[in-house]
Amino acid sequence: MLEKVEVVLHEPNGPGDNLWTFTGKNLLEVLTMNGYQIGGYCAGQGSCGKCKVRLAGKVNPLTTSELQHLLPSEIKLGYRLACCCMVQGPLKVFIDFQDTGISKKPLGRTIDTKRESRVETRKVFIPGIDIDSPVTLYSRLAKALPGYQIKLGIDNLNELSKMDRIGRPALELNALILDQRAVIYMGRDECGAYGVALDLGTTSLFSALVNLQTGATVAIDSKPNMQRIYGADVVSRLSYCMENSEGLKTLQKVLVNTINSMMEGMCREVKIDPKRISQLSIVGNPVMLHFLMGLNPAGLAASPYIGLFEDEYVYNAQELGINTGNNAELVILPQVGGFIGADTIACLITLPSVSSERFLLLDIGTNGEIV
Ligand code: FES
Repeated sequence: MLEKVEVVLHEPNGPGDNLWTFTGKNLLEVLTMNGYQIGGYCAGQGSCGKCKVRLAGKVNPLTTSELQHLLPSEIKLGYRLACCCMVQGPLKVFIDFQDTGISKKPLGRTIDTKRESRVETRKVFIPGIDIDSPVTLYSRLAKALPGYQIKLGIDNLNELSKMDRIGRPALELNALILDQRAVIYMGRDECGAYGVALDLGTTSLFSALVNLQTGATVAIDSKPNMQRIYGADVVSRLSYCMENSEGLKTLQKVLVNTINSMMEGMCREVKIDPKRISQLSIVGNPVMLHFLMGLNPAGLAASPYIGLFEDEYVYNAQELGINTGNNAELVILPQVGGFIGADTIACLITLPSVSSERFLLLDIGTNGEIV
């Protein structure tokens, strides 16, 4: 019978963590699912020797792969290969990022990405409750902002309801308006709106946190794509997905967990609440985009290599499990075709729209593209 067990994580310079799993679970999978980056490039086959962690607790005996990759002195200290360990009882895991060759530093750098603001703020007066003919708060908000869609989150509406007391003649609020059409936040204080740009690569994920009012990039981050434990390239991940009934869900969860952990880190760095993120723009190759959306990628695995979508796709970020504000929109940029994804479109839109010059665009990633 499966038993619930606790895995206590110790990081040399981090806060550590307490994770829960079941007996029989693979330790590398447990760590990956919880957003921890352990080394490893052999899809958990036990052949690269890079997923080294120090353990104290109950796991299976040493495997032949571990005996080949670990020094006797390391074995004495309790080092194991996470992909070769099945959890059998409560466990302490000591992650030494230096030993596993994993850097927590972002790989990218900020370039001048200042663009026109998509967000404006407006002062709005909302009449108070009229005892003789009471009107709901939502209707009063809509009436005060004619022509705009009111897209406030539940938390935001609840926050406003506390200020909307009987006897108060009016509320003076700041409204945050996106693209001159949608009111995405209202509050008494000056409000800021943020967006996240994400590139889902086969090997790494890159993200930037952008202040939508100023257009400035305020934080960046990158993390390895931990789907690699299920396959080093898109073809092997497609096979994993099609051969395992829970494969697609697993690959989606890995991406969502990594995105959440990147967003949390960037927000912590600039001291903002992730709930202030109101838009995510996402690019990547078609297979990665299908994995993120939890859409069956089978069409991309065989001729004529056509996925379930290739135009822009807009979805509610929270419904995918991404920790943002209630109404945050997730926008996937259009793809070019079966193997040329939205990342190419993102590169193209950075070029000046009117220019007599000619450009050659080269994307040298896990796959290469040229325009
Ligand atoms: S040895 Fe390669 S992932 Fe564990």
